[in-house]
Amino acid sequence: MESHLKQIKDKALEEIKKITSSEELKKIETKYLGRKGELTEALKKLKDLAAEEKPKMGQLANEVKLEVEGFLNKVKFEFQERAEEKAGHVLDITLPGIKKSVGHLHPITLIQQQVVEIFSKMGFLAWEGPEVESDYYNFKALNIPESHPARDMQDTFYLKDHADSPRRANGEAGWVMRTHTSNQQIRALEKYGVPLRAIFPGRVFRSEATDASHDATFYQLEGLMVGKDISVANLIAVMRSFLKEVFKREVKVRLRPGYFPFVEPGFELDMNCLICGGEGCKVCKFSGWVETMPCGLVHPRVLEYAGLDTKEYSGFAFGLGLTRLAMMKYGIDDIRLLYADDLRFLEQF
Ligand code: FA5
Repeated sequence: MESHLKQIKDKALEEIKKITSSEELKKIETKYLGRKGELTEALKKLKDLAAEEKPKMGQLANEVKLEVEGFLNKVKFEFQERAEEKAGHVLDITLPGIKKSVGHLHPITLIQQQVVEIFSKMGFLAWEGPEVESDYYNFKALNIPESHPARDMQDTFYLKDHADSPRRANGEAGWVMRTHTSNQQIRALEKYGVPLRAIFPGRVFRSEATDASHDATFYQLEGLMVGKDISVANLIAVMRSFLKEVFKREVKVRLRPGYFPFVEPGFELDMNCLICGGEGCKVCKFSGWVETMPCGLVHPRVLEYAGLDTKEYSGFAFGLGLTRLAMMKYGIDDIRLLYADDLRFLEQF
């Protein structure tokens, strides 16, 4: 058996060396490795050998088969290369390559990263929260009781009841798509305690008709600072430094009274519209100002919900409209462009 195998190998290699065409190559391949090929037939006979001979011969047969196959493949490859060259398909490494398109960050992500970095430098920790929220954290603990008209300030997507839903007093399900990032205020005070400096970026949802500056899904970034002797002066100082850092220049802002049940006093901080330079356009509803950052001092009742002594602690909070800030920063004149998934728009950032 051993000499028979060696004989087949020598003969096969000799014949392969002499091959001059791919037709000949095919013939030799069939002659030795085909279903009834010489080597295949020899391999079939292995099963008739004595048990003690089988391992040695099996290994030899395998080696012979691999060697013949390898040599055939090498010659096959050479023929292929020659055929390609003949057809003019020559590998030219000097030709320009095909550029791979690489994705990049969405403008909202870019602005969020920038804002988080600015606040981190001021010692604020960043923490994201749930988008599906209980009525308690979204409304009640923020001093917005159930039948309070302030609930109408934010058009809410209420979720269908399920077995584990917390219930409101009237028996309705208590889950909502969070209408603002203020839901994180009590959560953060419960988790981290005081003193606290934190920001909460994230997506929020409102059942609103859309226009150039309103969408039903948008991003906010909440800020909260609670400690001893925190006043409106701290609030204004933080806001000023923040806006200056984002826009790298002084931006005209105005502070006017604003009502939110979870702050007292409450303010609206508006930015001079950077789309029209204050002249008036569809983004600022022709007022020259864009509502950007409502804020105020945390209402004592909210601090009480967080279990804090209101004689000892005070704080400020703000709710930055992150999507609107992106619009101002990048000069986007319609909020709906941000989620239209149009690459012609997105590739500009
Ligand atoms: C709130 O959501 C309050 N939670 C903000 C707050 C936090 C006040 C802490 C006081 C203290 P408001 O509904 O005004 O407030 O929304 C805040 C900001 O989100 C707005 O100034 C605006 O920039 C942005 N915004 C509101 N509605 C939309 C919308 N439909 N589309 C895009 N941006 C919006």
